[in-house]
Amino acid sequence: MNYNKKTVKDIDVAGKKVLLRCDFNVPMAKDGSGTITDDKRIRAALPTIQYLLEQNAAVVACSHLGKPKEGPDPKLSLAPVAKRLGELLGRTVIMAADVVGPDAQAKAAALEPGQVLLLENTRFEKGETKNDPELAKKMAALAEVYVSDAFGAVHRAHASTAGVADYLPAVSGFLIQKELEIIGGALASPKRPLVAILGGSKVSSKIGVINNLLEIADTIIIGGGMAYTFSAAQGGKVGDSLLEEDWKDYANEMVRKAADKGVKLLLPVDTVIASAFAADAEHKVVKNGEIPDGWQGLDIGPETVKLYCDAVKDAGTVIWNGPMGVFEFPAFAKGTEAVAEALSQTSAITIIGGGDSAAAVQQLGYAEKMTHISTGGGASLEFMEGKELPGVACLLDA
Ligand code: 3PG
Repeated sequence: MNYNKKTVKDIDVAGKKVLLRCDFNVPMAKDGSGTITDDKRIRAALPTIQYLLEQNAAVVACSHLGKPKEGPDPKLSLAPVAKRLGELLGRTVIMAADVVGPDAQAKAAALEPGQVLLLENTRFEKGETKNDPELAKKMAALAEVYVSDAFGAVHRAHASTAGVADYLPAVSGFLIQKELEIIGGALASPKRPLVAILGGSKVSSKIGVINNLLEIADTIIIGGGMAYTFSAAQGGKVGDSLLEEDWKDYANEMVRKAADKGVKLLLPVDTVIASAFAADAEHKVVKNGEIPDGWQGLDIGPETVKLYCDAVKDAGTVIWNGPMGVFEFPAFAKGTEAVAEALSQTSAITIIGGGDSAAAVQQLGYAEKMTHISTGGGASLEFMEGKELPGVACLLDA
C-alpha cells in the first residue's frame, strides 16, 4: 500500500471550509452522564485543528461514536465531545443537531473562518457504514476540502472515512501522517533487529498480523492467552486455559514457517496459573505445558519474562500488540508490566499497537517512555497485517 500521502500542508486551506474527519470515538462513563473517561483521542486531533485555525480555515469536524444501530441515539451524541474539544481549544465549538440535515447545513453555511463546528455522530446516518455515495456527497457539500485525521477509523470504508474523498480534494492531518510514518516506517524499513511482541487472547484474531510479521520481523514473541493454543498444539497440557482447538494446526504451521524463514519464534517456557478467572484467585507458577485440570494460565511466568526481556534489549525496533496476561488483575499483570518496563529501558524504537496494549502501557505508567502509542486499535492491527486501509488509500498521493 502506498502511504506516501499529501498532508494538510500540501494543500491551500486558507479561508476555506474544511471537512475534518476525526476519531472522537472516546470511552464514556457507563452511567449515561456523558462523561468522557479518556480524552486522548480528542487531544490527538488538536495539532491539525489548531493548524487549520491558524490558516483561518472554517473547520467542520465529524466523527462516529460507538455503534448506534437504529439511527440517532441521544446516549451516543457527540455533544460531550464538542464541550471537551471547546475546553481544550479555548474556544466555542458549535454543535450541529444532525450530520447532513438542515441544522448541519445551516450551521456549516454560516461558519466563519476561525470557527469550529462539530457534526452529530456520523453513524446516526444509515448510509455511513454502507459508504453510501449520496451521503458522502451531502457531507462533501458542507466543505471545500477534506482532511482525514481519524487514524482509528481508517480501516473502515465508510462514507465519512473514504467515500467523501470522491467529491473533495482529500489529504491527511498530522495524526494520520505521524501514524503512517512511524508504523509504516517500522514495517517497510525497520531499524533491525525488529522484534514483534504479540499477545492477547486469541490466535484467530492475530493470524493476519503473525503471518505478515513473519515476513518482516527478526524475532516474534508470543504471549497472552493465545500462547496456550501454541502449547496445546505442541502436545502440552493447558488445563482450563483459553484454547482455540481449531487453530492448533495453524499454530504449528506458524512454528514451521518461522523455522523455514529463520525468524526466531519465542514461546513461553513457564506460566502463572490460577484456580479461577478472578483477581484474588489462588495462583502458582508451572512449566509451560504442565497445567493441571481445573487451573488456567493467566500470565507468562518469571523465566519467560527473563527470556522476553532479554530479547528486546538489543532490538532496533519493537512492535508490541497485545498484553502478556490478564493485566487488569494485579496478580497477573507482572508479565505485561515487565515487558513494558523492558521496552521503556531499551534504546529501540518502541511502537505500541492501540487497544489493549495501549491501555496496558498507560495503566501501568509507561506511556511516556514509548516512542509511539497508536491511537488505532483495529486500524493499527490491520496496518500491521499489511492490509490496505481504505481511509488512507482514498487520500491524494504525495
Ligand atoms: C476504534 O475505536 O477502534 C475506532 O474508532 C473504530 O471504531 P469501530 O470499530 O466502531 O469502527
